[in-house]
Amino acid sequence: MREIDSGTELYGLIGSGIAYTLSPAIHNYVFEKLNRNAIYYPFDIPVEKFEKTVGALLEICKGLNVTIPYKEVVIPYLSSLDETAEKVGAVNTVDRLKGYNTDYIALRKLASRYRDIIENSTCYIFGAGGAAKAVAIALGELGCREIVVVNRTQRRAVNMVQKLRNMGFNAEVGDRDYEKRCNVVVNATPNPDFVPDTCVEKSRLAIELVYRPIETSLIRRALKAGAKIVNGLEILVAQALEAQKIWFGVEYPIDDVLRYLYARKLVW
Ligand SMILES: NC(=O)c1ccc[n+]([C@@H]2O[C@H](COP(=O)([O-])OP(=O)(O)OC[C@H]3O[C@@H](n4cnc5c(N)ncnc54)[C@H](OP(=O)(O)O)[C@@H]3O)[C@@H](O)[C@H]2O)c1
Repeated sequence: MREIDSGTELYGLIGSGIAYTLSPAIHNYVFEKLNRNAIYYPFDIPVEKFEKTVGALLEICKGLNVTIPYKEVVIPYLSSLDETAEKVGAVNTVDRLKGYNTDYIALRKLASRYRDIIENSTCYIFGAGGAAKAVAIALGELGCREIVVVNRTQRRAVNMVQKLRNMGFNAEVGDRDYEKRCNVVVNATPNPDFVPDTCVEKSRLAIELVYRPIETSLIRRALKAGAKIVNGLEILVAQALEAQKIWFGVEYPIDDVLRYLYARKLVW
């Protein structure tokens, strides 16, 4: 057990319903490996207490991560946004009152390994929330030709497509029953079964945001179809390490954190 003293710096995650988050395990492990006198605490704040709490947490924490449902509502409490948070319109990392979006940074980095598949591709993105926007922008920037957004609530898909078009990307709203061409498939909903077989079967790359279990039904189907995979756990750890980079300017190897999470049986 690490000593806590008056010099221990406080970092944390602010969200609601975050009992099962892996972020404390990841960040506290990296702090320990890098010999930092710091701890990372999950602040599970109910929505009705957010307004009362957020200012104090921003004041006392050296760095914060932000998750559902606060990634957008935290913005008015910050002094500035970097270009990643500005682009996505959501913040998941705060450093000295400046907001960043390391989901986007991580997704772009991981997806760029498959640039050859993404360039000139048609990408189907299932979901129209914060994660969907981050991945759509990353894929658009990596040269995909066409982004098709499929969402349970049509209005949100329309809004997301509008945002993507305003950014200069070729985007349209799609539906689950009709796929003309699909080279890259992304699940950015909590439900991997929302992605239809017809789309998975044609894809050469599948990006899955869900990380529990690691092998979701989308990943199983995509592997069977011979596609490359970016899984939700890699994304989770990569976004955490991008936050560490913003806070400390240090890169930490993703494989070491993945090994630790498996060894501790924190992932399955
Ligand atoms: N691996 C990572 O590091 C990482 C990072 C960020 C997010 N995620 C995961 O990615 C997913 C989306 O996160 P988010 O931040 O974008 O959340 P969000 O902003 O709340 O958006 C959720 C999206 O999922 C859709 N959805 C919810 N339940 C659904 C269901 N049963 N069937 C089909 N669609 C459903 C919603 O559709 P409606 O608009 O119809 O409600 C919406 O498009 C979550 O599972 C989250 O845990 C993982």
